[in-house]
Amino acid sequence: MMDWTDRHCRYFHRLLAPHARLYTEMVTAPAVLHGDRARLLGFDASEHPVALQLGGSVPAELAEAARIGQDHGYDEINLNVGCPSDRVQSGRFGACLMREPALVADCYAAMQAAVRVPVTIKCRIGVDEQDAEEDLRHFVRTVHAAGCTVLVVHARKAWLQGLSPKENRDIPPLDYGRVYRLKREFPQLQIHINGGVSTVADVTAHLAEVDGVMLGRTAYHEPYRLAEIEAALWGTPLPERDAVVAAMQPYVMRYLAAGGRLQHISRHLLGLYQGLPGGRAWRRSLSENAHRTDAGFEVVEAALAARRRGELAHAA
Ligand SMILES: Cc1cc2nc3c(=O)[nH]c(=O)nc-3n(C[C@H](O)[C@H](O)[C@H](O)COP(=O)(O)O)c2cc1C
Repeated sequence: MMDWTDRHCRYFHRLLAPHARLYTEMVTAPAVLHGDRARLLGFDASEHPVALQLGGSVPAELAEAARIGQDHGYDEINLNVGCPSDRVQSGRFGACLMREPALVADCYAAMQAAVRVPVTIKCRIGVDEQDAEEDLRHFVRTVHAAGCTVLVVHARKAWLQGLSPKENRDIPPLDYGRVYRLKREFPQLQIHINGGVSTVADVTAHLAEVDGVMLGRTAYHEPYRLAEIEAALWGTPLPERDAVVAAMQPYVMRYLAAGGRLQHISRHLLGLYQGLPGGRAWRRSLSENAHRTDAGFEVVEAALAARRRGELAHAA
């Protein structure tokens, strides 16, 4: 998720969910071609399996960016056809491409021809006035004819004319039924559902209908949900939250030693104790102290201690 997730977040999420497939935030193809690749594409080996999400609409650029992504070790390349941001529309990336299935199919074909790893597509169920069920079927049929066999579908349309990017993640209603029907109409495709999924019960209900489930905001705001879902699906024992924090220490120390700032990592940990006694004390202590330029892991330890005090106060 652009401006939210990054490699540090994925490292943390991997500790919580060893079997999840992790996705990068969208990186535009021109950025991959001309930007600082170490910064944009670098990741830790523990993040596997990890998909690189690309944005763009020029087949040759996307193909080259996909090849570079594969060379960096990504396990999957995903094409973003769902992002509604203005920034993205002006460059003809993201959700506006749902209006141009033939162009998306060309992009897909060029990308898949350039790499051995799977290329997948993330899309919406519709965009603006083009949101009839047949429009979505036509889109899927067109990209499937180009070879695409895996789609992640955000189960709400995007209103590009009139709604802000943020509103476009909440206001158009979720329509899971449309995604379920898509799976029934294209049983040969892998259809993964996204949008508003937050609990184990949500995930298991969706998995009765589709092949996979993608979590966005809940994974970020309440990351321990990832561990709960991992436990439910794979039987992995639930980790202690404090043990997950301890497991971050060597990673944090390496990053700090290389000149990084604690805050870049700790901001992803703020929601770890969400809903638990002391969770607010943890969040406050970490956010008030981690921004200091000299902040080290002791700031995390102090936040753990603040959380325990908060928990004791709650129990008293
Ligand atoms: C801050 C933010 C940034 C996002 N950036 C991306 C992105 O880079 N690529 C993408 O496919 N979706 C992006 N999304 C959309 C989410 O991946 C997801 O499709 C959407 O939030 C609905 O799922 P959720 O209800 O589980 O969050 C972003 C969402 C948010 C809130």
